Amino acid sequence: MKIKKITCIGAGYVGGPTMSVIAQKNPNVEVTVVDLNEARIAAWNDDDLSLLPVYEPGLDAVVGEARGRNLFFSTDVDKAIDEADMIFISVNTPTKTYGKGKGQAADLKYIELCARQIAAVAKSDKIVVEKSTLPVRTAEALKSILDNTGNGVNFHILSNPEFLAEGTAVTDLHNPDRVLIGGEDAEAIEALVQVYEAWVPRERILTTNLWSSELSKLVANAFLAQRVSSINAISELCEVTGANVDEVSRAIGQDSRIGAKFLKASVGFGGSCFQKDILNLVYIARTYNLHAVADYWEQVILLNDHQKSRFAEKIIKTMYNTVNGKQIAFLGWAFKKDTNDTRESAAIYVADHLLEEEANIIVYDPKVSAEQIYKDLDYLGTRSPEENRRLVKVVTDPYEALDGAHAIAVLTEWDEFKGYDWETIKEGMKRPSFVFDGRKLLDRKQLEELGFSYYAIGE
Ligand code: UDX
Ligand code: UDX
Ligand code: ADP
Repeated sequence: MKIKKITCIGAGYVGGPTMSVIAQKNPNVEVTVVDLNEARIAAWNDDDLSLLPVYEPGLDAVVGEARGRNLFFSTDVDKAIDEADMIFISVNTPTKTYGKGKGQAADLKYIELCARQIAAVAKSDKIVVEKSTLPVRTAEALKSILDNTGNGVNFHILSNPEFLAEGTAVTDLHNPDRVLIGGEDAEAIEALVQVYEAWVPRERILTTNLWSSELSKLVANAFLAQRVSSINAISELCEVTGANVDEVSRAIGQDSRIGAKFLKASVGFGGSCFQKDILNLVYIARTYNLHAVADYWEQVILLNDHQKSRFAEKIIKTMYNTVNGKQIAFLGWAFKKDTNDTRESAAIYVADHLLEEEANIIVYDPKVSAEQIYKDLDYLGTRSPEENRRLVKVVTDPYEALDGAHAIAVLTEWDEFKGYDWETIKEGMKRPSFVFDGRKLLDRKQLEELGFSYYAIGE
C-alpha cells in the first residue's frame, strides 16, 4: 500500500516540524497539518517565514521548500481526516491537573477527542499513527474508540514516537539515530516504513510490537533525564569537595560504556517531555503496584526539583541572605538554547523562588516574549498576575537588564551571552557584582579578572 495523503492533527512543536520534513522528503505525498488553533495555523501559513509559530534553526527553509507544493496547514480538521490514508495524532498530552492521577498521569482528553472525531468522519480505511508520547496501552484505548464509534471502516493503529530534541529538530529529523514503528499489522507498518525510507536508511528503521514502541519512548526520555539528574547530583558533591563537575564528566564520559553526551550539569532539566514522561512511567509502575520501580524513577524528578531550588537558595545565601528589592537580571528563560519553548523551564521555578523573597527580576531572552514569561509565572498561581508584573520586568535589550543589577543569573545557554561586552556590563552593575551561572556558560577567568564574583554549578 502506497500512502498518497497524510494528515497530522496538531501543529505544535512535534507535528509542525515532523510533517514539514516528511513533506520535504516525499514530494509525491500530500501532507496536511491541521489544528484547532486558528492563530497557530495562520502563523504556519505566514508569508514571512521568520514568523512561524515554532522557532527551530533551519525550519524556515524546509517549510519554504514544501509549503504550497505538498505541505498544507489548515483548520479544516474534518476535511483533512476524510481525505487522508494515514492520520498522525500529534496533539498535546499534558500531565493531569485534576482527578485521579493528578500531577502524574497524562491527560488523554485531547487524544480521545481526536479519536472520536476521526471515527465520526472517516468513510474509508485509515492508518492512525500515535505521534504524541502516550502512556503504554493507549493504542488499545484508541482502537477501542475508533472501532466502537466508527462507521464500520478499518483502522490500523501504529505507534511512531518522535525522538527529535527541540533546538535541533530539523537536523534530528533529517538524520535520526533511529525511527521506531510499533504495530500489529504488517502492511500498515510497511506503509509507514516507506514514508521514512524516502530519506532514512532502512537499518535505522526499527519495527516492534505496539507496546514496546510506546514504552521505549518513555524509557528513552527517562534514561536521558536520569543522566542529567545523575550528573547534577554529582555537581553538588563537587561544590563541597573541590572537584570540578566538568572534569568529572569528561573523565567518565570517555568510558565508551558511559558515553560523553548528556553529562552537562545544569540548573535542572526542563522541556515538555522529561518530567511528563517520567511521571507517566512512575504512574504506570504504581498502577501495577511496582513501588520499588516507581520510587527509583521518581528520584530523577526529586533531584531535578532539588537542583532548581538549590540554585535559587545559593543566590539568596550569597547575597547576604536577602534579595528583597534587589535587581536580579535573568539571562535566558527558554528551557534550553535555540528554542522559544519555555515549558517546565528551570527559569520559571528559580524566578518563583526568588520572587517569594521579593526580588526584582529583569528578564532577557532572545526568543521568548514578555507575554509568555508572564503566562508561565501566572500559571503557577503563587501570586497574583499584578504582583508578577510588579516584580518582573521583561526587556528586549540585554544591556538594559544588566544595567544597575545586583546580580546576573544565567538560566539558558544561549551562545550570544558569551560574546557580551562584560567590561561595560561590570561598570554598570552594583558592587559586589555577582554572576550565578546555571549553565556553566561564561568564562570564569575573564569574569574574575574584570572583578565579578562568579559562581557556577558544580565548581
Ligand atoms: C527530549 C529528548 O532529547 C528527545 O529525544 C525527545 O523527543 C523529547 O525530549 P528536548 O526536551 O527537546 O528533547 O531537549 P533535550 O536536549 O533533551 O534537553 C532537555 C533538558 O535537559 C533541557 O532543559 C536541557 O538544558 C537539559 N540538559 C540536557 C542538561 O541540563 N544537561 C545535558 O547534558 C543535556
Ligand atoms: C567494574 C567496572 O566495569 C570496572 O570499570 C571497574 O574497574 C571495576 O568494576 P567488574 O565489576 O569487574 O568491573 O565487572 P562489570 O563488567 O562492570 O560487571 C559488574 C556487574 O554488573 C556484574 O555482576 C555483571 O554481570 C553486571 N552487569 C553488567 C549487568 O547485570 N548488566 C550489564 O549490562 C552489565
Ligand atoms: P507538542 O509539543 O506535543 O507538539 P503542542 O502543544 O506544541 O505539543 O502542540 C499540540 C497542538 O495540538 C496544539 O497546537 C493544539 O491546538 C492542537 N490540538 C489539540 N487538540 C486538538 C484537536 N482535537 N484537533 C486539532 N488540534 C488539536
